[in-house]
Amino acid sequence: MCGIVGYIGNRNVAEILIEGLEKLEYRGYDSAGIAVLGNDEVKVKKYKGRLSVLRENIQNEDINGTIGIGHTRWATHGEPSDVNSHPHTNSTGSIAVVHNGIIENYMKIKQQLQEKGYKFVSETDTEVISHLIDYHFEGDLVEAVKKAVADLEGAYALGVINKDNPDRLVAVRKDSPLIVGVGEGENFIASDIPAILKHTRKVYILEDGEMAILEKDKIELMKTDGTPIKKDVYVVNWDVEAAEKGGYDHFMLKEIYEQPKAIRDTLSPRVNNENEIRLDDISITKEELDRINRVYIIACGTAYHAGLLGKILIEKYVNVPVIADVASEFRYGNTFIDENTLMIVVSQSGETADTLAALRLAKEKGARVIAVTNVVGSTISREADDVFYTWAGPEIAVASTKAYTTQLVSLALIAMQMATIKGTITEEDYSGILNGLNKLSKQVKSLLEKEDLVKEAAKEIYNAEHIFYIGRGIDYDVAREGALKLKEISYIHCEAMPAGELKHGTIALIEEGTPVIAVATQEHLYEKMVSNIKEVKARGAYVIALAKEGNEDIEETADSVIYIPEVIDELTSVLNVIPLQLLAYYVAVMRGCDVDKPRNLAKSVTVE
Ligand code: G6P
Repeated sequence: MCGIVGYIGNRNVAEILIEGLEKLEYRGYDSAGIAVLGNDEVKVKKYKGRLSVLRENIQNEDINGTIGIGHTRWATHGEPSDVNSHPHTNSTGSIAVVHNGIIENYMKIKQQLQEKGYKFVSETDTEVISHLIDYHFEGDLVEAVKKAVADLEGAYALGVINKDNPDRLVAVRKDSPLIVGVGEGENFIASDIPAILKHTRKVYILEDGEMAILEKDKIELMKTDGTPIKKDVYVVNWDVEAAEKGGYDHFMLKEIYEQPKAIRDTLSPRVNNENEIRLDDISITKEELDRINRVYIIACGTAYHAGLLGKILIEKYVNVPVIADVASEFRYGNTFIDENTLMIVVSQSGETADTLAALRLAKEKGARVIAVTNVVGSTISREADDVFYTWAGPEIAVASTKAYTTQLVSLALIAMQMATIKGTITEEDYSGILNGLNKLSKQVKSLLEKEDLVKEAAKEIYNAEHIFYIGRGIDYDVAREGALKLKEISYIHCEAMPAGELKHGTIALIEEGTPVIAVATQEHLYEKMVSNIKEVKARGAYVIALAKEGNEDIEETADSVIYIPEVIDELTSVLNVIPLQLLAYYVAVMRGCDVDKPRNLAKSVTVE
């Protein structure tokens, strides 16, 4: 996830690009750069760090030109650094490219180009694009871009400029957003509308496989095979703040809705065409795995809740005991760590102080550490032996949503990979889980369509003082995440309990109307859950249940039911959490809370 902008017109371009990028910083902010075409050359300025670093560095520079492209980066391939920042150029510096997305076949292309003598300077996937355009270039930029994109697999929104075509800016879109802003004597491109809203409210929204050739007085739209297309101009009538949130009221809701894509992005680069898991990110060998006699999964908050699934999957399929613990507790307990220990740390930000301290402790004692994180170049990613990135894109809302679901998917992939290397999983289980994983993105999407049902349920409970969440097994783990989500943004006291444990104390708190959210989606525990629901109903609870499609008899017991599509038990949390996130969101909205920035909380906790 990154942000791109581009301009062609009569005004000096650098400031227009930087102002545009400011509005896109929510899409990534670990480095930024611009390329400006003027005085018969393409000047590139790019720096690691926030946009302010770029701005300071070019303050006294003479960067004049009326055509340019800019980029704010959220690192995927290659850590945040000056050289990995965009724009990327060909070797002579005559072609500059900004890119948002991931090129899946970049290694293959890179190799082919290297064999032809092309020299690469960065670790990025994007750099193959600038060299590939150079390879196909015979004087016409548009033709070269068309040929280059025909070779690319993956997702890309591109902005391209070229010294020898000084009156054009070429833009292409596939699976990453891109819009074209229509001005008077000037035109724009951007990843998102806010970047250009100061200059124009008229835009074309490009679809996959479409490209735009911008001149200052003209915009040509076509498919990447050259077929011309016509589009209606869309006139924007929102304000900038709303637009940054893509039309959603809050970043949290936007991020909840981004989950089908985030899951797909995390999964697809790791599953090959033969439907096999290939984790280039993790280099552990069979000998090393055979030696491992204990696994720790260490994390905080939501990441810890994701880690609980890792424990279940690794114990079941890799046949090694796993201890999952919150980092702040783990550090001060008796730890049994040595060179036969594997530690998996899970952290969205990659900066959480306690998680980092656990990692360092493990390394000190000779353990091998795998990090599951969302932020390339974060401290945790740099210090771990192996890094598995969740490709969720920047998460802005404090309450974590898309990081959690992608962490679940990542841990499932890691468990499957370990089990395959060790030879501890049957083909049937392997394909069952893989098929389940492949279906998740669509199933999450179908659950998001039940938003209205969840809103109705929220209306029933938003005035409560206490809410209880119950579940068994994996359902208890997701219940914990549901309770955390609701309490952190709505300030209602929420508590998750193993359903069978409720009667040993907590049931004393159930009174007439107390909301109980019951997660009952584990096939083998379903009947037991129905009994537990009956227990709380008998004390007057108002029960909202999550159940699998096919278990409609639950309607006889629960007051309201949200159905989860058919999925193997191990992957239910990815689906169950969607209504739980929406429920938390709508309860918080109904209570008038500051959903994206709840009181007393921080997105990244870098103190112990
Ligand atoms: C904070 C955030 C939580 C997050 C936890 C761990 O408490 O508010 O949403 O789950 O930190 O953060 P990490 O970045 O390590 O996943």
